[in-house]
Amino acid sequence: MHGPTPRPARFSAPGPLSGTTGVPGDKSISHRSLMLSALAIGESRVEGLLEGEDVLATAAAMRAMGATIERGEDDVWRIHGVGVGGLLQPLGALDMGNSGTSTRLLMGLVASHAITATFTGDASLSKRPMGRVIEPLGLMGADISASPGGRLPLMVRGLCPAVPIDYRLPVASAQVKSAILLAGLNTPGITRVVEPVATRDHSERMLRGFGAELTVEEDGAGARLISIRGEADLRPQHIVVPGDPSSAAFPVVAALLVPGSEVTVTNVGLNPTRAALFDVLRMMGADIVFANRREVGGEPVADIVVRHSVLNGIETPVETVASMVDEYPILFVAAALAQGRTVARGLEELRVKESDRIAVMAEGLRAIGARVEELEDGLIIDGTGGDPLPGGATIAARLDHRIAMSFAVAGLVSSAPVTIDDMSPVATSFPGFAALMTGLGAEVA
Ligand code: S3P
Repeated sequence: MHGPTPRPARFSAPGPLSGTTGVPGDKSISHRSLMLSALAIGESRVEGLLEGEDVLATAAAMRAMGATIERGEDDVWRIHGVGVGGLLQPLGALDMGNSGTSTRLLMGLVASHAITATFTGDASLSKRPMGRVIEPLGLMGADISASPGGRLPLMVRGLCPAVPIDYRLPVASAQVKSAILLAGLNTPGITRVVEPVATRDHSERMLRGFGAELTVEEDGAGARLISIRGEADLRPQHIVVPGDPSSAAFPVVAALLVPGSEVTVTNVGLNPTRAALFDVLRMMGADIVFANRREVGGEPVADIVVRHSVLNGIETPVETVASMVDEYPILFVAAALAQGRTVARGLEELRVKESDRIAVMAEGLRAIGARVEELEDGLIIDGTGGDPLPGGATIAARLDHRIAMSFAVAGLVSSAPVTIDDMSPVATSFPGFAALMTGLGAEVA
C-alpha cells in the first residue's frame, strides 16, 4: 500500500507531446482475472496483469483465502485455484487499501462461503458506502456487520448454501452487480440481477469464459437481466489483459490539449461499456483514430492515435455516464480548455468515488484559474478556448489517483506549473504514470 510519506510533483510541458506508448493492464479485468482464477481448479495464467496496489490487494486477499498466486520471471501470473466453494477462512483482516472494487467483489465471494472475513481499508475507502452491497448480500443470507453508515471496517459472515435472489440494482454499479454474480457462483439455483443501465460487463464475459452458465437478456430500453446458475465448476483459463482505457484517457487528453502534439497509445481495451470518453471527445471535435482494431482475450482492442485538437464545449450525454464513469475528472480538464460551455450532469455517483470528484475537481479547477460552477449532480465549465490556464497552484489529491493524474495533465496546459501534493495514490492504478508522461515530453519535477 502507498506509504504515509506524501510524494509531491510539479507538472508542465515545455513543448508538444509526441511518441508511442502502452498503458498498464485494465484494472477491472485484472481484479476479475485473479478472483476467477482463484476459484478454478488447475493453473490459470494471466498476461498483462495490472501490477498496481489495488490489484495486489485482491491478490493478497485471494492468497489469504487459499489460492496460490505467483508472478513468473516471464511476467506471467500463474494462479492455482481452490474451486468454487473452496475458499478458506482467512487468518487476519483483509486489507483492501484504496480499492473499492476489491472490497465489494470480495464481499460477494465471501458471502456465499462458510467463512468469515473482516475488510479494512485506507481513509478514502473507509468513507465509501458499502450499504449497496450489504443489502443484496444480506438478502442472500450473509451476516454483515459494518461500521456506522455502512462503512469499513466491516465483517462478512458468509452463508453456505446461500439463497439465490432476483435483484434490481438501485444504482448503476458494476461493482454491486459483480458482487451479486460472484456470490451467486456458489449459491444453489439461479441468481438474477437486473441493471436498468448497462455497466461494464467484464464479470459477465469472464464468468462465461471460465465456463459458468450465465445468460444476458436485453429489454431494448437499455436494461439487462443477467442470470447465473450457481455451484458452477470453473475451468482454468489463459487471460491476456488489454491496456486500461481509463489510464489511456490521461495521455490521450494531454495530447489533445497540448498544441502540436501527436501521440499513439497502443493496445487499449475498447469494450463499449468502457469507451464512451473517446466518443464524447470526438463529439467535442477531437482528432482521435482507432487503428489496428482487433480482439484480445475476448475484449475489443485498438491503438489510439490522437492529435492536438481545438475542442468545443458540449452537454455531455447522460445515457453513457456509466460507460465513462471514471473518466469525468479528465474530461473536466478537457472542458476547461474547450471553446464555450460544457454542462455535465447525472453524475451523483462521482460523489462517492475515491473522493467526492465533483467537489474536488471544482475546487482544484478554480484554484488553477478555470471557470467552474458546481451542481449537485455535475459541473458547468466555461472553457478558455484553448488558451492555457493560469495554473500555479498546489492541488490536494485526497488519496484519489484520478484526481492526481487529471491535475497533472492540467499542469501541461497551464502557464505556471501545477503541483500535486501527493502522487503516491497513482500507484493504485497506473504505476509508471510520471515516467510515461515524461517519455512523451512532459516535465515532471
Ligand atoms: C468498477 C466499477 C466502477 C468504477 C470502478 C471499477 C469495476 O465502480 O468506478 O473504478 O471494476 O467494477 P461502480 O460500480 O461503483 O460504478
